[in-house]
Amino acid sequence: MRLSQAKPNAVTRITLTRPDDFHLHLRDGAALAAVVADSAARFARALVMPNLKPPVVTTEQAIAYRERILAALPAGSDFNPLMSLYLTETTSAEEIARAKESGVVIAVKLYPAGATTNSDAGVRDLLSAEAALAAMAELGLPLCVHGEVVDSAVDVFDREAVFLQRVLAPALERHPNLRVVVEHITTREAVRFVAAAGSGVAATVTPQHLLLNRNALFSGGLRPHHYCLPVLKRELHREALLLAATQGSPKFFLGSDSAPHSRQAKESACGCAGIYSAHAGIELYAEAFELAGALERLDDFASRFGAEFYGLPRNQGQLVLERQPWSVPEALAFGDERLVPLRAGGEMPWRVVEGGQ
Ligand code: NCD
Ligand code: ZN
Repeated sequence: MRLSQAKPNAVTRITLTRPDDFHLHLRDGAALAAVVADSAARFARALVMPNLKPPVVTTEQAIAYRERILAALPAGSDFNPLMSLYLTETTSAEEIARAKESGVVIAVKLYPAGATTNSDAGVRDLLSAEAALAAMAELGLPLCVHGEVVDSAVDVFDREAVFLQRVLAPALERHPNLRVVVEHITTREAVRFVAAAGSGVAATVTPQHLLLNRNALFSGGLRPHHYCLPVLKRELHREALLLAATQGSPKFFLGSDSAPHSRQAKESACGCAGIYSAHAGIELYAEAFELAGALERLDDFASRFGAEFYGLPRNQGQLVLERQPWSVPEALAFGDERLVPLRAGGEMPWRVVEGGQ
């Protein structure tokens, strides 16, 4: 990684190894066609989430979905979609073996049933998925977890911390060799849990959880475009996440959780959870790392630690960002609908100037 500065403390140019996004929602059909170029313009690879309707539960479905993603890419793009399977209570050890053998599926995603968008087919009781978990531990296929309990008796802001103790800690005791990524962590408790766990446990961190706290949900009125799951937390948690992401630990790496929903689906009496960030998918992280005074650590977080966790080679080629402010549009095209991106109508300090596709 190279940083160029015009004067001390004013970096103007960042040269990264081409980065990867290890948590991305691309959807399907017209929505896929509308968003995939944003990720492909910045990232060499992405781990694509399987929460379609119906969900991607077999290797065969994952391979077919991957083909649809490749077909939707701009001409000449070499973006490589890495696939995940959606864990259900009936996922068999044989299906896990097929996934591992495919070379296309690199992870399995746990959605507690009812926890988030399209999670109804997910797992109610993780003990029902023991055969699949045992096969994953044996074959070294990582489990990506949406780490929230769905218990209505648990406060929505506490659901991640409770999940770690109630569900994940016992699962790791039963399967000490299971490799786990706690996805989109949002709390100090999650940082501590992941840091204290063995080297097979890591976490992804989103740009919104590094840049925003829960005040952003209510600033001047209700802000549906800042609503995602797990929901934004207090400032002390944002600070803990920023420290974790920028301290140089290989356990914390980039996973944007960019999750597009139409404007109509978000601006509703019961709006969908999910924030679209792929239009500025690396630029937002550059801003967060600069805020923390840690731009020199961005390359490891964005381009190295995730690949190492998944046993993938580092990408060839580079991506260059320059300090060149640009305005984020109020809305983007999204099939027949519109998509309101993170920071809509606002300004981004960093721009991709080279190496994007
Ligand atoms: C995601 C989505 O819309 O698919 N939403 C979100 O708020 N993050 C699902 C998820 O990752 O929880
Ligand atoms: Zn997600």
